Amino acid sequence: MSMDFTDRVVLITGAGGGFGREAAQRFAQAGARLVLTDRDADALAESVAALPASADGTPARPVVQIGDIAQAATMDAVVDAGIAEFGRIDVAINNAGIAPDLMRLSDTPASVMEQVMQVNVLGTFHGMRRQIAVMQEQFRSDGRGGVILNVASVAGLVGAPLLAAYAASKHAVVGLTRSAALETAKRGVRINALCPSFAATPMVDAMVESMQHEPDEALARLVSSVPMGRTATAAEVVEAMLWICSDANSFMTGQTVTLDGGLSAG
Ligand SMILES: NC(=O)c1ccc[n+]([C@@H]2O[C@H](COP(=O)([O-])OP(=O)(O)OC[C@H]3O[C@@H](n4cnc5c(N)ncnc54)[C@H](O)[C@@H]3O)[C@@H](O)[C@H]2O)c1
Repeated sequence: MSMDFTDRVVLITGAGGGFGREAAQRFAQAGARLVLTDRDADALAESVAALPASADGTPARPVVQIGDIAQAATMDAVVDAGIAEFGRIDVAINNAGIAPDLMRLSDTPASVMEQVMQVNVLGTFHGMRRQIAVMQEQFRSDGRGGVILNVASVAGLVGAPLLAAYAASKHAVVGLTRSAALETAKRGVRINALCPSFAATPMVDAMVESMQHEPDEALARLVSSVPMGRTATAAEVVEAMLWICSDANSFMTGQTVTLDGGLSAG
């Protein structure tokens, strides 16, 4: 199975966070040239510092852009910078996202709902719009289109009590994924969504902190719905990203890939 991304240009949003940092490292190890973005400049700089050197010992030189994905101009700037440096975008992973503190829908302020939709839905939408246009153009000119992977959540497939705004936003990401995949299936672009359950990243650390329990107890409550009884590691999630985006996976489009320790099987 080919998990070789040598000379492929891989764009990752949210590259300063848990999945994004791990993904940057693994795609770099697999030979990719990287276009990385995040709104948190310090976190992104840490991710860049953690990248492995290339086989000949030269330090990794990703394209780096700081910005808020909820603004359409951010993704324009990110894609333009990637094309200016590398000439194309082969893989785009729309991974940046936010989760609000746990709360019932009836207690959720409209401002929280709006913010979650702005980042998780509009942010993904702005990314896809620009990435699809670029990849379809690549397909027309040289027959090589591209691959888009949206990071949704198992909360994009089933209800998530105390996370209604988040679940609504991730259901929307799944809808964008399926619809756009149908539109681009003959135009050289594969588009899929990844649906993890709780994974050990700063996002889940913040969720645990917001709960009214000691951290161990809070984490135990959070994973009580997961049949495997634990969080995923970022590495487990990123291994799936590599396969989904690889040439080995050439006939999958419009799908959700669920990595949830069995949560949605019941
Ligand atoms: N960790 C989990 O348990 C889990 C489970 C399912 C899905 N997800 C999804 O995976 C993705 C990555 O999550 P993570 O766990 O790595 O979270 P994280 O909080 O560790 O990282 C998210 C990154 O996105 C960036 N970001 C947030 N809003 C942004 C914005 N408006 N513009 C630009 N960058 C922004 C943050 O600065 C951060 O670096 C998210 O979409 C999340 O919803 C996470």
